[in-house]
Amino acid sequence: MSSAALSDLATSSRNDFLDDVLAGLSQSQKSLSPKYFYDEAGSDLFEAICLTPEYYPTRTETALLAHVAPALSAWVQSGCVLVEFGSGASDKTRLLLDAMPQITTYMPIDISAGALEPAVDRIKDAYPGVTVVPVEADFTQPIATLDLATYPAVLGFFPGSTIGNFTPAEAAAFLKAARAMLGPKALFLVGADLVKDPAILVAAYDDAAGVTAAFNLNVLKRINTELGGDFDLAQFAHRARWNASDARMEMHLESLRDQIVHVGHHAFAFRKGETIHTENSHKFTVKGFGALALASGWTLVEQWLAPDDAFAAFLLERF
Ligand code: TRP
Repeated sequence: MSSAALSDLATSSRNDFLDDVLAGLSQSQKSLSPKYFYDEAGSDLFEAICLTPEYYPTRTETALLAHVAPALSAWVQSGCVLVEFGSGASDKTRLLLDAMPQITTYMPIDISAGALEPAVDRIKDAYPGVTVVPVEADFTQPIATLDLATYPAVLGFFPGSTIGNFTPAEAAAFLKAARAMLGPKALFLVGADLVKDPAILVAAYDDAAGVTAAFNLNVLKRINTELGGDFDLAQFAHRARWNASDARMEMHLESLRDQIVHVGHHAFAFRKGETIHTENSHKFTVKGFGALALASGWTLVEQWLAPDDAFAAFLLERF
């Protein structure tokens, strides 16, 4: 791409960011889209969250996938392409590649170039027989460049309970879009966190070392540096709440006093205690997930549960 085209791209993504921030902060319940968490610093902070003692999903899913991968191998034909949505550091991917030499191509999709590039280099080094085709894209939008028609088998992979970060309607829309993107031969392995004791959930999203707090606040830092904002990060606090009626964890940034914040020449008033809603993390039941899949064109053909039903891996097949 020419440098002019590249700078056009940068300008348009900055405009999207600005438009989204201005719209989100203008609502009566202020909100910011979680996709803006993941700049380079945010992606690094997310990797650090995964290492905190409280954040059980990563460890639990990784241990689960070590059992799932050899069992899944029976379903997967040779020459398969593995398409991962939100690949991040591509750590869990290794469990699949280790157990399934039938996978000859890996397509990681991630919104963060800073996360994608080093992850791709590590996978190429460790799996010289696997062709890696990285896709820098927002997977919540249709991706025109995915061309999977020539592969004899397609395995989609969506770990991390990222599906829980969508609303139920968005999750169904995503599963339908993934069905279209992955094509007629697709199987889809989806990792999902399950409903459990709220105390465990709240701790997982508010670790004692404050890594999750720093991750949440990082979005304000981005607004300051990229959009000319003047958020005082010391005047906002990270809050993690269990919303029982919607079966979801909610992340907010709470204003610690009455204050006016500017983004460019736009001003936004905050009352003390008012929050910006930044993320939801829906928790599933096996029954609820099966119904969601069915409503989106997929049959639930296998499920694997971690000890204490802490986390699930679901295998979906197109119908
Ligand atoms: N998919 C992860 C989850 O819902 C993302 C996540 C983990 C997250 N910790 C977070 C998002 C804290 C926002 C804030 O568990």
